[in-house]
Amino acid sequence: MSASLVSAAYLLSCILFILSIRGLASPETARKGNLLGIAGMSVAVGITFFSPEIKDIYWILLAILIGGLIGTTSAFKVKMTSLPQMVAAFNGLGGLSSVFISLAEITSGSQAYTTTSISLFIGAVAFSGSVIAFAKLQGLISAKAVVFPFQHLINAFLGLSVIGLCVAFSLSGNINLFYILTALAILLGFLLILPIGGADMPVVISVLNAYSGWAAVGIGFSLGNVLLIIVGAIVGASGTILSYIMCKAMNRSLANVMFGGFGNEKKAHDNETENQKTAKFGSPEDAAFIMENAAKVIIVPGYGMAVAQAQHVLKEMAFDLHERYGVEVKFAIHPVAGRMPGHMNVLLAEANVPYEDVFELDDINREFATADVAYVIGANDITNPLAKTDSSSPIYGMPVLDVEKAKTVFFVKRSLGSGYSGVKNPLFYADNTIMLYGDAKEVTEKIVSALEK
Ligand code: TAP
Repeated sequence: MSASLVSAAYLLSCILFILSIRGLASPETARKGNLLGIAGMSVAVGITFFSPEIKDIYWILLAILIGGLIGTTSAFKVKMTSLPQMVAAFNGLGGLSSVFISLAEITSGSQAYTTTSISLFIGAVAFSGSVIAFAKLQGLISAKAVVFPFQHLINAFLGLSVIGLCVAFSLSGNINLFYILTALAILLGFLLILPIGGADMPVVISVLNAYSGWAAVGIGFSLGNVLLIIVGAIVGASGTILSYIMCKAMNRSLANVMFGGFGNEKKAHDNETENQKTAKFGSPEDAAFIMENAAKVIIVPGYGMAVAQAQHVLKEMAFDLHERYGVEVKFAIHPVAGRMPGHMNVLLAEANVPYEDVFELDDINREFATADVAYVIGANDITNPLAKTDSSSPIYGMPVLDVEKAKTVFFVKRSLGSGYSGVKNPLFYADNTIMLYGDAKEVTEKIVSALEK
C-alpha cells in the first residue's frame, strides 16, 4: 500500500479521535464518542498492517489477541467504583510500552537519542507511578500518604539525575547510560506517587494519563509516526486539562496534590462542631411523608451513592415522587462528586435518569432556595458550607451546593463522619437538617416502600 494512502488513513483516524473526545464531553453524546474512538483506533491499527515498515505480522496479531482478551474481560468484569484502578492499570501499560519501544529503538541502532530518552523517562514514570496508584486503589498497599524524611530532597535529586542522564545520553549515545536512565526513571515514578494519599489518586491517574500521552508523542518523533504524535498530544493535552479541572473544582493546586501529602493527617478543627450541637435523626417513613407533600425535591448524590450502588432505587424514588405525588424532582451534580470525573452522571445514566432532570452546579445552585427538600445521598464535602466561610479549612474556596437553603435537608449516610477531605460538616447539626442513618440503598429502598404504600 502506498505511503500516501497510509497517511490519509492516519489523518482519518486522527479526525475520528478528535470527534470522539468531543462526543465524550457530554453524557448524551458519550456513547457516540466511544464508538467514534473505537472506529479511530480500528482504522489506526488496521492500516498499520499495511505500512511498509511492518515485517512480521503474526507477532502483532498475537499481541492484539492477548491484549484484546485481557482488555475485554476486565472491561466486562470491572465494577463502576473500580474504574479508576482499571484506568491506572491501562495507563501503566501505555507507559510500559513506551519504555519497551524506546529500548527496542535504541538497541536496534536508532540515532534519535534525545526524543527517545525523553519518552523513556516520561513513559517509565507513568508506568511505575501507575503501578503504585493501582496498588493503593486496589488496597494492595496502604492508601495513606507515605511520607519519609528528606522525601522532596531525594525526589528532586533523583529527578535532576534522570534529566542529567537524558542529556548525557543524548550527547554520547552510550547505551549503559540509557539502561541506568531506565532504572532511575522507574524508581522516580514509585517514589513520586508513594507519598500521595489514596483519595488523591484520581487526579494522579489523570496526570499519569497525560504523561503516557506525552511519552507517546516522544515515541512518535523517534519513529517518525505522525499518528502517534497527534494522538499522544490529544491524550497528553486532555489529561493535563482534566487534571487542572479536577484540582480547580477541589480548590487545590496540582503541586499540593502531587507534593502535599494530603489525606495523611486529620485536621485540627475536625471536632469543633461536633461538641457544640446535636444532630436530629429521622426515619425513612418520615422522609417519605415530607417528600410526598413537597412541591420540589432536589437530589444530591455523592460518593456514598456510588459505594451503595443506590442509583436504580434512587431513580425509582424520583419516579414515584413525580408520577404518584406530582413532585418536581431534579438531580444536582457537583463537578467532583464521587471519586472520578463524571462519576455521578455515569451512574445516573446507567439507571436511565433522564438527562433533562440532571443539572450541573452552576445551573441549579440558585434553585435550592425554592426547594422544599434537598435529599443528599452519600454526599458530604460537596455540600459543606465551611468551604464558603472558613478560610482555614482545607476545602475553603471549593464551590459547593447550597443545600442548606432548602426548607428541609436530608442527609443519607451511615454516621456523622467526614468525607474525603476529613473535614466535619456543620450542616449535620443545622436546624433544618434531618439525618437518615444507614446505607444509601437500604434507606432509599425503605422510602420507596413507604411511598408505594
Ligand atoms: P465525600 O465527601 O467523600 O462523602 C461521601 C460520604 O458518603 C461519606 O461521608 C460517607 O459517610 C458516605 N457513605 C459512604 N458509603 C456510604 C454508603 N454505603 N451509604 C451511605 N453513605 C455512605 O463525597 P462527595 O460529597 O461525593 O465529595 C467528593 C469528594 O471527593 C470531594 O472532597 C472531592 O474533592 C473528592 N475527590 C473527587 C474527585 C472527583 S474527580 N470526583 C477526585 C478526587 C477527589 P458515612 O461514612 O457516614 O456513611
